[in-house]
Amino acid sequence: MIHNKQDGFPIDFLWGSASAAYQVEGAWNVDGKGPSVWDVFTKQPGTTFQGTTGDIAVDHYHRFREDAALMAEMGLKAYRFSVAWSRIYPAGRGEVNEKGLEFYDQLIDELIKHEIEPILTIYHWDVPQALMEEYGAWESRQIIDDYNTYCITLYKRFGDRVKYWVTLNEQNVFIGLGYRLGIHPPGVRDLKRMYEANHIANLANAKAIQSFRRYVPNGKIGPSFAYGPNYPFTCHPNDVLASENAEDLNNHWWLDMYCWGRYPRVSWKYLEERDLAPTVHEGDWDLLTYGRPDFIGINYYRSGTVEMNPLDGVQDAEMNTTGKKGTTADSGIPGLFKTRKNPHLETTNWDWEIDPEGLRIGLRRITNRYNLPILITENGLGEFDELEGGDVINDDYRIAFLQSHVGACQKALNDGVDLIGYCTWSFTDILSWLNGYQKRYGFVYVDRDELNEKELRRIKKKSFYWYKQVIENNGLTVKNVQTMS
Ligand code: BG6
Repeated sequence: MIHNKQDGFPIDFLWGSASAAYQVEGAWNVDGKGPSVWDVFTKQPGTTFQGTTGDIAVDHYHRFREDAALMAEMGLKAYRFSVAWSRIYPAGRGEVNEKGLEFYDQLIDELIKHEIEPILTIYHWDVPQALMEEYGAWESRQIIDDYNTYCITLYKRFGDRVKYWVTLNEQNVFIGLGYRLGIHPPGVRDLKRMYEANHIANLANAKAIQSFRRYVPNGKIGPSFAYGPNYPFTCHPNDVLASENAEDLNNHWWLDMYCWGRYPRVSWKYLEERDLAPTVHEGDWDLLTYGRPDFIGINYYRSGTVEMNPLDGVQDAEMNTTGKKGTTADSGIPGLFKTRKNPHLETTNWDWEIDPEGLRIGLRRITNRYNLPILITENGLGEFDELEGGDVINDDYRIAFLQSHVGACQKALNDGVDLIGYCTWSFTDILSWLNGYQKRYGFVYVDRDELNEKELRRIKKKSFYWYKQVIENNGLTVKNVQTMS
């Protein structure tokens, strides 16, 4: 669709940036915080790049005021952060840790002082270790009530100041990497357990949203989903079908549930025939209907391209966690689809396709299917950055990436998508779960590496100034584009 004219961004558009507790806070055992599964998992040899952990991360816990001041200097309109469950409930449930609540009180107040809209993510993968040990965390229905209690504690405490809430961050990723590939906690490779745990997470999500309506009636809530639209590798009908399979099993399996409270029929039948469909108890379908969100949070990094995969075809493959370009093998599900490198797209050093048009395509697909507002809760480029003399980081590649994606958002708005905001990933550099500190995402460089925390100095990258201008102009202008090239 080619438009004769480009409308601008809405006046109240949320120009934001995002982070997650484990990736930035550090202070993993400070002020009464209990361990999360990530505190334990990363300390097991061989789980992360060069054994990196979030013990200190970028020390946001102690430097949040400095970070918020940088956000204010940039003119950021919104900041998405997550609460560490085990800071609030060190043992996952039971006694509340007041110190944990106080930290987020201070962070939220600091953001509001700077006129930055807080977007609170309730869960970004760091389930309390105590619940993993007690009942297997997401594998037990006990977590539905414990998660709900944790949510209600946050609603009551912060609901007066926080309007936008994200329930589960990338359920498809923490479940998929945790139980399919076994590279996130709990490090399991078992599809039956994966679909069971996922169903329980759906129930927990729905119950949390049901409670939200009562405690924060004027707020807005939704999940953040890791979304990548799929393309067929060729126009051969077999490849088109493979692409539909991938779309159904990798995207609709979650999004249909969030928005409609049901699983897609084709994937359900496929899983049922293999004894992989989750166990459904009486009352589940009723509860799931309460999960309908106010907006869909989308984390977009890349699109996927697939072709037919025969029954004896390729299966799951290792992920590139080193930044050595070209080391990702094709992977797939025999009988459904397998990935192919898209010859029309460049990739990052971690082999992620760079595809701004894919964002527009995805936003349109979601809009047409679910007809809900969309908040982009993450979009960004993980790359090696170089700190040059005079404290300069020339991250033109990041500016090019973000600029093209902001451009895609604008086109999507023109197409009719109800896009309410755009959060880049991330504001400061963060710990990339499996990739250490060398895969950088921020507008603000944090001077540390895998082996040495140094002084964790904050240094503004070139992209910092670029995004500042975008926010000032409420979108791209000729000037922004020239700055980049
Ligand atoms: C999303 C997560 O999956 O992608 C973030 O919500 C994560 O927490 C981001 O950091 C980028 O992934 P990675 O593996 O490059 O850190």
